Amino acid sequence: MITLGIETSCDETAAAVVDRGKVLSGVVSSSVPLHRKYGGVVPEIASRFHIEYINRVTKKALINAKKTIVNVELVAVTELPGLPGSLLSGLSFAKALSYSLNIPLIGINHLHAHIYANFLGKKRFSPRFPFIGVVVSGGHTNIFICRSIKEFSVVGSTKDDAVGEAFDKVAKILGIGYPGGPLIEKYAKRFLRFGMARDNNSIDFPRVFLDRNSLDFSLSGVKTAVLYYAREKKLSRREIARISWSFQEAVFDVLTGKIITACKRFGIKEIFLGGGVISNKCLRGKIKAACKRLGYKFFFPPAGLCVDNAAMVAGLGEALYKYA
Ligand code: KG4
Ligand code: ZN
Repeated sequence: MITLGIETSCDETAAAVVDRGKVLSGVVSSSVPLHRKYGGVVPEIASRFHIEYINRVTKKALINAKKTIVNVELVAVTELPGLPGSLLSGLSFAKALSYSLNIPLIGINHLHAHIYANFLGKKRFSPRFPFIGVVVSGGHTNIFICRSIKEFSVVGSTKDDAVGEAFDKVAKILGIGYPGGPLIEKYAKRFLRFGMARDNNSIDFPRVFLDRNSLDFSLSGVKTAVLYYAREKKLSRREIARISWSFQEAVFDVLTGKIITACKRFGIKEIFLGGGVISNKCLRGKIKAACKRLGYKFFFPPAGLCVDNAAMVAGLGEALYKYA
């Protein structure tokens, strides 16, 4: 079923064409450069950008898929969660397309789509339910139990900042740029290269587990600890590397610990990950080590499909329309 996906929940304007689970094309135009000087997403700038680019991005996705608009049989669009103005831009566009072409429209949960990204490109859609789904992004940090393609129950979420958001804010404190996640990962790798890890030179930032039984997260404490540590200091590159490494370790130790606790609590041994932060190699390494120790399996989406994209929206839309 030729499905056009539209994604505009935050700062990426994206369109993609998917047919029977296969990604025929995917185009993403990002307003990140416009937000850089503010160190975070400015909602008004993001929604104006969507309005300006959604048409071109969709046309390009259709051309790349070697299709025209009349070939489209279903429109899938992110309907929540997200920035209201940004969501509204994509929703209005998708509704207008569906109405004028007289084809069905399906609204998609952005977080469920991040998890669904794991199944794109697979010949048959046949995951074994239930599994643990985890979304770690700029706007969200959630652990789900996924019992069927339309039953995703939240069992843990952040009480304050999302993990990606905390990375972006710490990068702002360190003055290294935006978006912060990939930059902190880069500096943390330098820490290893400088040989500083060998000398046990890391900073003991707090690992905030809240109540040990809780599957929820809180990132504001570790973020404030970085702020207090770094303030009024002239930070050398080595010092930035040391802070980046130590912050990353503290956050990912907790995240990995909570994911494993969720698996144990519900007796589930398969984990499907999604969201921009899942691109981080240190995080993947920690989850891999824990899974190896316990005999669990973990999966993450192919390159380019961890961050926001429309293929995951089209894919989940098609699956829901067909199977649910
Ligand atoms: O999934 P995504 O593209 O958008 C949202 O739905 O939020 O995630 C973007 C977030 C940003 O906060 C960015 O800093 C973070 O993902 N991120 C990373 C890495 N790459 C992107 N965080 C840590 N390490 C990375 N390599
Ligand atoms: Zn996202």
